[in-house]
Amino acid sequence: MLTVKNLSLFYDDLRAFHDINLVVQKGQWVTIIGANGAGKTSLVHTIAGIHRPTTGQVFLNGLEISNKESHQICRLRLGHIPEGRQIFPSLTIKDNLEMGGFAVGFGRKKIKDKLEEVYNQFPRLKERQKQLAGSLSGGEQQMLTIGRCLMAEPEIILCDEPSLGLSPLRVSELFQLLQKLHKQGITLLLVEQNVEASLRHADYAYVLEQGEIVLEGKASDLLGNNAVKAAYLGG
Ligand SMILES: Nc1ncnc2c1ncn2[C@@H]1O[C@H](COP(=O)(O)OP(=O)(O)OP(=O)(O)O)[C@@H](O)[C@H]1O
Ligand SMILES: [Mg+2]
Repeated sequence: MLTVKNLSLFYDDLRAFHDINLVVQKGQWVTIIGANGAGKTSLVHTIAGIHRPTTGQVFLNGLEISNKESHQICRLRLGHIPEGRQIFPSLTIKDNLEMGGFAVGFGRKKIKDKLEEVYNQFPRLKERQKQLAGSLSGGEQQMLTIGRCLMAEPEIILCDEPSLGLSPLRVSELFQLLQKLHKQGITLLLVEQNVEASLRHADYAYVLEQGEIVLEGKASDLLGNNAVKAAYLGG
């Protein structure tokens, strides 16, 4: 479904990542793990069309998307849950959610239906729909970011460190939610610093170090890999 071929990105002279090849099959849950500064967000941004790659290509269902703008890519049902919850704090929760639907050109009726679906998934957002998004707690803002992404009815979601800053209980709820979305048929490409939880849930994983993929394999195999244990799981 998603194929990344020989992808590289430079910010002027600084190499963010180099010669990345990866595949996410339809219905798969793939995770990318890597330390701070490894290039994970840069890679996600390049797939989502926020950055133009220096070399290489990205294909979504066989269609090249690396020459497209991010607003065109989200209409192809590739969703992006950005790092750091980029909500609009001075708009209401409802307005923030609706923007997810407007961004992909849905009409009023479709947006109303999607909103009901998202409210069913997140009753807490429904209760507080008229409040300003900036008044939500960190965990609730993360819910809002996910809800906004779902408004666009994505087939595949790029999810960048959604557990950042959440308490252990909230992290476990977040993974339950991702698991539920995955069971509903959504393909996931998840970037996570919570290495153990993401390897436990994913089908396949890539390890990114200093902008290069140094290891890949079945997530369950990587969970038992000594190098992964030493570098990311505390020995
Ligand atoms: N817009 C930018 N301009 C210049 N350099 C950037 C830009 N964005 C990221 N970088 C640099 O690219 C490298 C990779 O950063 P990136 O944000 O992709 O890493 P990351 O793996 O997502 O890290 P983290 O786990 O901290 O989120 C870093 O050295 C960073 O400083
Ligand atoms: Mg990042």
